[in-house]
Amino acid sequence: MSEQVIIFDTTLRDGEQALSASLTVKEKLKIAFALERLGVDIMEVGFPISSPGDFESVQTIAREIKNSRVCALSRALPKDIDTAAEALKVADAFRIHTFISTSTIHVESKLKRTFDDVLEMAVNAVKYARNFTDDVEFSCEDAGRTPIDNLCRMVEQAIKAGASTINIPDTVGYTYPSEFGGIIKTLFDRVPNIDQAVISVHCHDDLGMSVANSITAVENGARQIECTMNGIGERAGNCSLEEVAMILHTRQAKMGYKTNINPIEIARTSQLVSQICNMPIQSNKAIVGANAFSHSSGIHQDGVLKAQNTYEIITPESVGILTNKLNLTSRSGRHVIQHRMQELGYRDTDYDLEALYTSFLALADKKGQVFDYDLEALMFFNQIENQHEHYKLSSINVQSGTSVVATATVVMQIGENERVVEAATGNGPIDATYQCLMRISGLDIDMSSYKITSKGEGKDALGQVDIVAAYNGQKFHGIGLSTDIIESSAKALVHVMNHIHLAKAVEVKKKNLTQV
Ligand code: KIV
Ligand code: ZN
Repeated sequence: MSEQVIIFDTTLRDGEQALSASLTVKEKLKIAFALERLGVDIMEVGFPISSPGDFESVQTIAREIKNSRVCALSRALPKDIDTAAEALKVADAFRIHTFISTSTIHVESKLKRTFDDVLEMAVNAVKYARNFTDDVEFSCEDAGRTPIDNLCRMVEQAIKAGASTINIPDTVGYTYPSEFGGIIKTLFDRVPNIDQAVISVHCHDDLGMSVANSITAVENGARQIECTMNGIGERAGNCSLEEVAMILHTRQAKMGYKTNINPIEIARTSQLVSQICNMPIQSNKAIVGANAFSHSSGIHQDGVLKAQNTYEIITPESVGILTNKLNLTSRSGRHVIQHRMQELGYRDTDYDLEALYTSFLALADKKGQVFDYDLEALMFFNQIENQHEHYKLSSINVQSGTSVVATATVVMQIGENERVVEAATGNGPIDATYQCLMRISGLDIDMSSYKITSKGEGKDALGQVDIVAAYNGQKFHGIGLSTDIIESSAKALVHVMNHIHLAKAVEVKKKNLTQV
């Protein structure tokens, strides 16, 4: 019989806090639904005291998610815990996660306190959080560098105060597997009430050891792993969910551990997180990288053709990558698209068939054949594009070449009735198009990053442009998708303009409310 390891996902908290542009409530909810389908036991979805936006997204997710427990972070302070509980209380059951630093360097240099002060704050915070729920997790921040006697005292007192989960983070990704495993073992040997709590680990990847450290911790008694999809998170990121889940799954017979993760959902969830978070996945990344299942050497190819398991320890299908690719053309009807989406694992409620079909036909007219990856890219993009469209691109015409100054003419629909035409020159066709859009919007947008990636194979693949742009001190992420990279560039900036328009409308609403 295998023992259960709890998967605690922190993509929407530790992962999200490391992004250059924060996610909207809708984007976070989309990821939360995907994580729920993936089978995470607990999802930590924000730090409600940190901003009204975080509070709102924690509350929305807590209301919507039914099959995973929702958790929010708080420092070891009553006002943080009150705010977390307020955001979470719409859920049937929830977890409050409270933390304080325990390493000498953090206690003395960051908190300017003594270890005994911190111990008292931790105990008080756990007791206070227990007023709202029985499910309280306490984290000893920087546990990996905490003197072991102090760590044992802290863990014992936090359990005594009522914490049902104790988390041991390697906050700075400093420890190595036998060392980290040794810390967990010592806790089990020396803390008398350790059997009254689940021991969790939360490892960062600064030295590339987060997954190995987490697995070694499980071998030494930990039964919860904190991780993120694609390993996103502070600095070098967190322990990667798909890697630990597939290690425990693939080696279950030998290791004797299981999780509730449904491997078939991994590829789709990974793509969604990468897309929404604007965090590309390195092609050689284990499990979810584009090359994770491709064999280049002739000897390997020959082996795999004879028997797949000569060089493949897991199949792409087992993590939800479909290898049977169907070519769709403009003659394919709605039902074919719907059927293919079902085969790709999407429910009818996951996307708008009409919108997908319209963009599919437009693409099929341009490309001839449309592949699975195109369909998925269109689906993700439609979900993003259809959110709020105050500015709508009607047309772009560009003239450029080696011996002419690049010139663009853009026609745009603003709101219901306004139609604006603008022309500009620029340093290349994209710059000229952006000059037009900036003039039309009249917004002082500062572009901090521009990135273009191919979303499929071949020279007629869809090109996706991701930009991050700042306006009034806030950062916005814009995405554009088209077979024409000037059009996808324009769409990405229009997406940002629509974000800004919405943010301004929310500000005005808030002001009006406070004036009433
Ligand atoms: O890395 C860390 O220590 C954390 C804690 C808040 C758990 O993210
Ligand atoms: Zn962390």
